[in-house]
Amino acid sequence: MRVVLIFGPPGSGKGTQSEKIAEKYSFAHVSTGDVIRAEIATGSEDGKLAKALIEDGQLIPDDLMITLLLRCFNEIDISCGVILDGFPRTVLQAQGLKALLRERDGEVSIMLDMKVPDEEIVERLVLRGETSGRSDDNEDIIRKRIKIYHEKTEPVLEFYKKEGLLCSIDGTGTIEEIFERICIVLDQSTSK
Ligand code: AP5
Ligand code: MG
Repeated sequence: MRVVLIFGPPGSGKGTQSEKIAEKYSFAHVSTGDVIRAEIATGSEDGKLAKALIEDGQLIPDDLMITLLLRCFNEIDISCGVILDGFPRTVLQAQGLKALLRERDGEVSIMLDMKVPDEEIVERLVLRGETSGRSDDNEDIIRKRIKIYHEKTEPVLEFYKKEGLLCSIDGTGTIEEIFERICIVLDQSTSK
């Protein structure tokens, strides 16, 4: 089972590129943001807690995130490979993922780190906010999400750098140009 991580700040194109990768390489696509939004839609107590945090631009607690991811892995077919979009976002989640994959005889094969300057991200997300209906796509919360990314999520890069799995991708340019860069990297690492 091939496990590809796509990592980067809010609006760096993780979702856009994941859909293309999933289609080309026949991977399942798991976006933890979508997993959480689906939980919120059920109206559960976990969903209510997550809703308040997402609307405030904060991360949801690690234990809840890992529980939701585990449930998702049990529900969908990931045997052909999976692209994980937006997970892990803390070092604790990275450790949790390692343990969870070990139980399934799997391991992360590569982490794609999408590099996009903060100001371009703000522009993209403010624009998306005009139509997305996402309550966290307003400028104040977008800036808060970016700040939390730098503080809490960026340290995850060091974890995968130490494992030799980190691969930086220039996330600027057209969607197709970025996808080509990603495909070159994925095709080179097919043996993993
Ligand atoms: P999540 O839904 O994952 O949001 P995010 O990481 O903030 O990122 P986005 O989905 O907004 O952006 P993206 O990188 O997918 O970019 P996209 O392709 O959409 O998470 C939401 C919240 O859930 C978090 O804040 C947190 O509260 C919680 N959460 C999720 N995972 C968690 C975890 N593991 N632990 C704890 N909490 C968690 O592109 C953005 C826009 O740009 C789109 O409009 C797109 O069309 C456009 N675009 C894409 N590429 C380009 C390009 N090359 N040029 C111009 N525009 C482009
Ligand atoms: Mg996304």
